[in-house]
Amino acid sequence: MNGGTPGRFITLEGGEGAGKSTQIGLLKTWLEGRGKTVVATREPGGAPGAEMIRKLLVEGPVEKWDGPTEALLHFAARREHLRSTVWPALKIGSWVISDRFADSTRAYQGYGHGLDLATIERLYEVAVGDFRPDLTLILDLPIETGLARAAARRGTETRYENLPIAFHQRVKAGFLEIARSEPQRCAVIDAGHDIDTIAATIARTVADRLGI
Ligand code: TMP
Repeated sequence: MNGGTPGRFITLEGGEGAGKSTQIGLLKTWLEGRGKTVVATREPGGAPGAEMIRKLLVEGPVEKWDGPTEALLHFAARREHLRSTVWPALKIGSWVISDRFADSTRAYQGYGHGLDLATIERLYEVAVGDFRPDLTLILDLPIETGLARAAARRGTETRYENLPIAFHQRVKAGFLEIARSEPQRCAVIDAGHDIDTIAATIARTVADRLGI
């Protein structure tokens, strides 16, 4: 354990190209500077079996899966990620930062593809149980800026980016709605600033919300 304090589970969420991975690296360093042991991980993926499922999800044509199948695959990957990576790390007192978690299923398969949100909560219950993130940071950015950034760096993982702008608009609105409905767990971060300004806002939010 970290000096006897329990680990915390922080998730970063947002649309395409919101700068999550850069900010996760900076937050990890910041937390380590405060004596925490930090595991940075991602979804879909973050464990060998979950990375195999990731490949099924992010490559190939858009029409390959429909909303319900995608949600099932994301929750299968999520359970494996929790079981193999997240829960063991938390158990020994590490802090875990995940690039995406279940709010991405709510935003993409729910608000984006129109899958009933109550169905998503039923799948959550089966795959995850009553475990929840301690804090969720939602990086908010204009869609066009994010998609341009994502397109510039993406290799074969183009499946979600190829969805229409209207889909990405629903995803963005969905994340903001989730933040409004769970203000204690979620904080919206304006990702339209420079990297250092965003990192400082994130550090302040983590300090305020999680008391470090
Ligand atoms: P990434 O680009 O952040 O690595 O995520 C891969 C894609 O998977 C991204 O376009 C969002 C999508 N996704 C979902 O649609 N539902 C989910 O539950 C998760 C975790 C990701």
